[in-house]
Amino acid sequence: MKELSLLSQNMILLFLLAMTASASKLNVPRLRLSYKDLLATNRSAIFSGHHGLLSLTSVFLDEYHDRLFLGGKDVLYSLRLDHTHSDSKEIYWPPLPGNREECVLKGMDPQSECANFVRLLQPYNRTHLLACGTGAFQPMCAFVNVGHRGEHVFTMDPTNVENGRGKCPHDPSQPFASTFIGGELYTGLTADFLGRDAVIFRSLGSRSTMRTETDQRLLHDPKFVAAHLIPDNDDHDNDKVYFFFTEKAMEDGDGRGAIHSRVGRVCANDAGGQRVLVNKWSTFIKARLVCSVPGPHGIDTHFDELEDVFLLRTKDEKNPDVYAIFSTISNVFQGFAVCVYRMADIREAFNGPFAHKEGPDYQWAAYEGRVPYPRPGVCPSKIINQPGRQFASTKDFPDSVLQFARSHPLMWRQVYPAMRQPLLVKTNVDYRLRQIVVDRVEAEDGQYDVMFIGTDIGTVLKVIALRSGNSLDTEEVTLEEMQIFKVPTPITSMDISVKRQALYVGSPVGVAQVRLHRCETYGKACAECCLARDPYCAWDGTSCTRYTPHSKRRYRRQDILHGNPALQCVDQNLSVEELDVSEDRVVYGTENNSTFLECVPRSPQATITWLVQRDDRKEEVKTDERVMSTEQGLLFRRLFRQDEGVYVCRSREHGFSQTLARISLEVLQGETLGELLAREEAGAEPTGKDRAGHRAGPPCYGHRSPPIPSHSRSWFKDIMQLIGPSNLPHVEEYCERVWCSDKLRRKHKTMMDKYRLAQESARKARNKGSGERNRTPRDLRSSK
Ligand SMILES: *[C@@H]1O[C@H](CO)[C@@H](O)[C@H](O)[C@H]1NC(C)=O
Ligand SMILES: *[C@@H]1O[C@H](CO)[C@@H](O)[C@H](O)[C@H]1NC(C)=O
Ligand SMILES: *[C@@H]1O[C@H](CO)[C@@H](O)[C@H](O)[C@H]1NC(C)=O
Ligand SMILES: *[C@@H]1O[C@H](CO)[C@@H](O)[C@H](O)[C@H]1NC(C)=O
Ligand SMILES: *[C@@H]1O[C@H](CO)[C@@H](O)[C@H](O)[C@H]1NC(C)=O
Repeated sequence: MKELSLLSQNMILLFLLAMTASASKLNVPRLRLSYKDLLATNRSAIFSGHHGLLSLTSVFLDEYHDRLFLGGKDVLYSLRLDHTHSDSKEIYWPPLPGNREECVLKGMDPQSECANFVRLLQPYNRTHLLACGTGAFQPMCAFVNVGHRGEHVFTMDPTNVENGRGKCPHDPSQPFASTFIGGELYTGLTADFLGRDAVIFRSLGSRSTMRTETDQRLLHDPKFVAAHLIPDNDDHDNDKVYFFFTEKAMEDGDGRGAIHSRVGRVCANDAGGQRVLVNKWSTFIKARLVCSVPGPHGIDTHFDELEDVFLLRTKDEKNPDVYAIFSTISNVFQGFAVCVYRMADIREAFNGPFAHKEGPDYQWAAYEGRVPYPRPGVCPSKIINQPGRQFASTKDFPDSVLQFARSHPLMWRQVYPAMRQPLLVKTNVDYRLRQIVVDRVEAEDGQYDVMFIGTDIGTVLKVIALRSGNSLDTEEVTLEEMQIFKVPTPITSMDISVKRQALYVGSPVGVAQVRLHRCETYGKACAECCLARDPYCAWDGTSCTRYTPHSKRRYRRQDILHGNPALQCVDQNLSVEELDVSEDRVVYGTENNSTFLECVPRSPQATITWLVQRDDRKEEVKTDERVMSTEQGLLFRRLFRQDEGVYVCRSREHGFSQTLARISLEVLQGETLGELLAREEAGAEPTGKDRAGHRAGPPCYGHRSPPIPSHSRSWFKDIMQLIGPSNLPHVEEYCERVWCSDKLRRKHKTMMDKYRLAQESARKARNKGSGERNRTPRDLRSSK
């Protein structure tokens, strides 16, 4: 349990930076989808409440009723799970009379605190939900009638409200976790007005209420993240409720108040003790969850703060995979990691030795003395019964067991993630990871866990982590980055419906229903589909579509592991050139001035090479401080006459290359432009033919010998190139000076509008499916 000194943290920071820098190209999402893209393709639909301000605080995805239930500020909603939000129903649920005023009098904020923020929505029975809200710092609960399956009922009897203390926090911003099992509600929260009484609570049902003793050894300033029932075996007497939380670590005795992440558990059939621990948990134990990366000199960097937990449930309900997001945020650096835990490893820690400290001057160590029987943390069930000694309930446990449990809640062993390292690590990113859900997807070559990760800026990342061969290292592939909400807003909830292949993403501004995949977005060619490496998608011979295992179609091409289209698409139309290169372009530049050849790959992960063709030779463009290859294209900071030639922009990704653009660069010599201006000013009749309407070409070029593109649009582009990418107003000014007649001026105006429209549609066409990328210089110009 060695902690880092500040000095070594710096070193680790450098190490992590180096680590991520080397993999940076891979961390770039393969596809960026803007808010508009998502709406335009029906990938996402947003619900923001009936009054424009949802202040979402809880979500319950009810696949049985086919509904999404939402809780917000003084409000509850019921939505259909399909893509339309028609027929949504609302219940207004304010605090009880007088409570809002009382809350304000106590000095709380009227807007952000003195309202009923619904924090809990759990299925109570077939027809009713249990809803609990903060009730302006006076928690309250009520049943919501949602009707039988197939009905769309949504009513509440506002007079039939119960005290919600212990079931819901007072403070809308206090961390909180809950689960409802067998008619009983388990909560992890602070249960008092001041937010000091941190407890794990069990309420409702017929048994007496249970809680944790107030003791910092049990819970020390906990922040609860999740609660789940996970059975141990087929005997339900062994069912356990697991809590995931962070707390101040007692065992880290240097008084710095280190934060550790924990998994803690209680037996569902815990009834407390008979003489000691009356109505208090007698089976509570906890262990540290470790998520760290090995650093130089054997010092690990720990990600200690738990952000979110997702249980990936499988057919084996006893062994879900536990996915968790962790963060470490210090003044030195900010980093995030996703670790996945196996239940077997969690149980092993709980079956191992207890952590023990003999006295104030001793170190923490594994307890080596005799542990009383039944071992604390074990549930009363058949397996612990001995001849003549039955334990029907925890009330039958000897006092020695309860005393030991009370003084040894922490296990000595820590829980390490699968493969002993994170699945993915994100450092030096300008957003935070907040929420995670995972879908296990069948693909041609096996199963993949697709992670959907919500950030604090309203985006969702769709990520897979690949392990090649026996290697320990994972390759992280960000398939898509989706801007779910128009404005940056923290994502506070995520739920997945595998049945509907949809994701429900909640934030304070609303909830979005997002499809897990839209394979067409990746492109129209086999290679593009293959490069996408999306386990949901495969090439079916004609297009990129949803991959369904065991389907009759023989023709399915997919290569998640390598994304190698050369192998997968060998008999397919590998040449996507005709799809991508719309036309060969001509670009004019002036000698000694700068010019720019634009070429942006669809995928940010592709690398670009520039070739230049002169006479019959084709060679790679030599870049230096004069000729620079940028993310948007090739920049000539100073153009030489000998730069003239045909430039070919090729992208390469996973061994697959394609030509994206073929650009003829013409270098205009000398003061051509200046000469032009001079000539026009001298009163030369610039565009006689234009008046006659015979020529479509630009007036400014009237006296210049070819090459002049014949169609009317391109000359305008050329002027743009001549003037340089700096500013559009100069073009206007130039045209004003060159063109004399009003008629021409009008014409110029329509040209300008056409040009803008053309640019806009070209941009849309380019962005269609590939997201709104970093804007190119030309985009900036066209939208000024
Ligand atoms: C999106 O959905 C609407 C209504 O369901 C439909 O009219 C429209 O054609 C869809 N658009 C696309 C791009 O699928
Ligand atoms: C569900 O619980 C509510 C509240 O206790 C009760 O009124 C209702 O009858 C119950 N419904 C069923 C189907 O048990
Ligand atoms: C390949 O493309 C050509 C023309 O673009 C088309 O005629 C042919 O059917 C395509 N072949 C396949 C296998 O898609
Ligand atoms: C470009 O620069 C070179 C060297 O400085 C010079 O010889 C040449 O005349 C310049 N050309 C123009 C058009 O300014
Ligand atoms: C480059 O182009 C700009 C805009 O036309 C012009 O003002 C400048 O003098 C040119 N520079 C050179 C070196 O030709």
